[in-house]
Amino acid sequence: MIFAAMLAGGIGTRMGLNKPKQFEIVGDKPILAHSIGNFLEVEEIDKIIVSSPKEYIDTTKELVEKYFENNSRIVVIQGGKTRNDTILNSIDYVKSNFNDEDPILITHDAARIFASPALIEKSIVNVINHDAASPVIPAIDVIFESKKEGKLTDIPLRENLVHSQTPQSFKINKFLEIYKDLTEDEIAKLDEAMMLFFLRDGDVKLFEGESSNFKITRNIDLKIAEAYLKEN
Ligand code: CTP
Repeated sequence: MIFAAMLAGGIGTRMGLNKPKQFEIVGDKPILAHSIGNFLEVEEIDKIIVSSPKEYIDTTKELVEKYFENNSRIVVIQGGKTRNDTILNSIDYVKSNFNDEDPILITHDAARIFASPALIEKSIVNVINHDAASPVIPAIDVIFESKKEGKLTDIPLRENLVHSQTPQSFKINKFLEIYKDLTEDEIAKLDEAMMLFFLRDGDVKLFEGESSNFKITRNIDLKIAEAYLKEN
């Protein structure tokens, strides 16, 4: 079976709004409604697991009901303290409610509202013969490494650098097998699922992402998203 973890358990500190950014209206609907809508278009996905900060579960459920009335493909769960904890809660939901032999989870940042259904499909196709798969786009800026404030410590070659995006997919059984083997220090490093596979030589397939699939993170991104929606 194929599950989607719509990651909306964050509170959007960098945006500085008076509510988590996933509830902000962009165009005609909230950020979260855009992202869920894109995933609903992909028929292979059996269930979309929408996470929410604990204090906003009712608000998230109301949003889902308002925009996707009585939709049995969507469920709302409580997110975790970190993004990785939210992924773990989504895996827990799958394991406690379904008995599938080899379930696949597609994780997606709810704040990426322009991920096309074609990109989501690509994530599914690419994970089939691998442990995990992630879209990437080439780095635009030269990236400096600065391990000490104000000091340049390395300049990795830009041609070797890519930005990771979501939707990232992985096989849940493989994820859990590696997770059990991690040390506490390694677990503390997990910000995104691909790090877990990277730490144990997992087979992660990279495929081409979309430049429009940016993550709404700062205030300016909201303005860019509004403008992009008007044009498309
Ligand atoms: N996320 C999550 N659970 C967390 C933290 C983040 O599901 N504990 C989700 C966010 O809701 C978001 C995605 O992961 O859709 C990407 O994270 P980010 O853009 O960093 O969102 P926030 O954590 O909300 O923002 P900030 O870092 O500015 O606080």
